[in-house]
Amino acid sequence: MTEIEAIKDRHSVRNFVNQKIAKDLIEKLNIMIVQCNAEGNLHFQFFENAGNTFKNLVNKATGLESAPGVIICAGRDDATLDERIGYYGEKIVLYAQMLGLNTCWTATFNKKHVNADIRNDERIVVAIAIGYGENTGKPHKSKKPGQVIIGKGEKPYWFNYGVKMALLAPTALNQQRFEIELLPDGKVKFHDKGGILNKVNLGIVRYHFDAGVNHINKSGKKTKG
Ligand SMILES: Cc1cc2nc3c(=O)[nH]c(=O)nc-3n(C[C@H](O)[C@H](O)[C@H](O)COP(=O)(O)O)c2cc1C
Repeated sequence: MTEIEAIKDRHSVRNFVNQKIAKDLIEKLNIMIVQCNAEGNLHFQFFENAGNTFKNLVNKATGLESAPGVIICAGRDDATLDERIGYYGEKIVLYAQMLGLNTCWTATFNKKHVNADIRNDERIVVAIAIGYGENTGKPHKSKKPGQVIIGKGEKPYWFNYGVKMALLAPTALNQQRFEIELLPDGKVKFHDKGGILNKVNLGIVRYHFDAGVNHINKSGKKTKG
């Protein structure tokens, strides 16, 4: 499965089968996590056994309590932390999807039950539930490209494709409170319109957009209108 296929196939999954994640997949996942930690100056930590991380009333109701594994999303606390967590966390989420695993970003986890190694200058932002889904989830209700693109007029193919991938991104409570602007110099500006975990959401959205544009660049369609 390619990353673009993973973007299209990925949906939040909240009910997992009672099965440990295969050792070879854990190894691959950990390699990706090490890479993302280095690139993003982050401290993602994968736990094969989620323990009590999701054992609370809310997660009992949503099903997330059944998640066998968890990725704790943490890093050095500065103004860019949440967005970096979103960007690299989504890279990990899509990679997990490519490995045949399912995930759900979660804000409602028990921070105090997390057995992670968090240094003094670090902060836990969110967690990602991970395992083999009982189902594959379902597509979220989505805004239309015209509702998130700033400015009228025809846009290049690569930009529209990036926006299409961005609209498939998970956002907390499916808010999709972002806008994307193509500047006259060809650069792309992402606008954050607030809301719960807005910076994490923006990082996730940016990752999807970049993955879409990279795909178009590789396929040589960048200049197509
Ligand atoms: C930062 C973030 C936090 C989230 N927190 C929760 C959560 O606490 N509980 C939950 O059930 N889903 C949570 N979600 C999942 C969203 O509800 C889900 O991504 C959204 O409804 C879009 O659906 P999709 O992921 O299937 O595309 C979260 C998603 C994000 C991006």
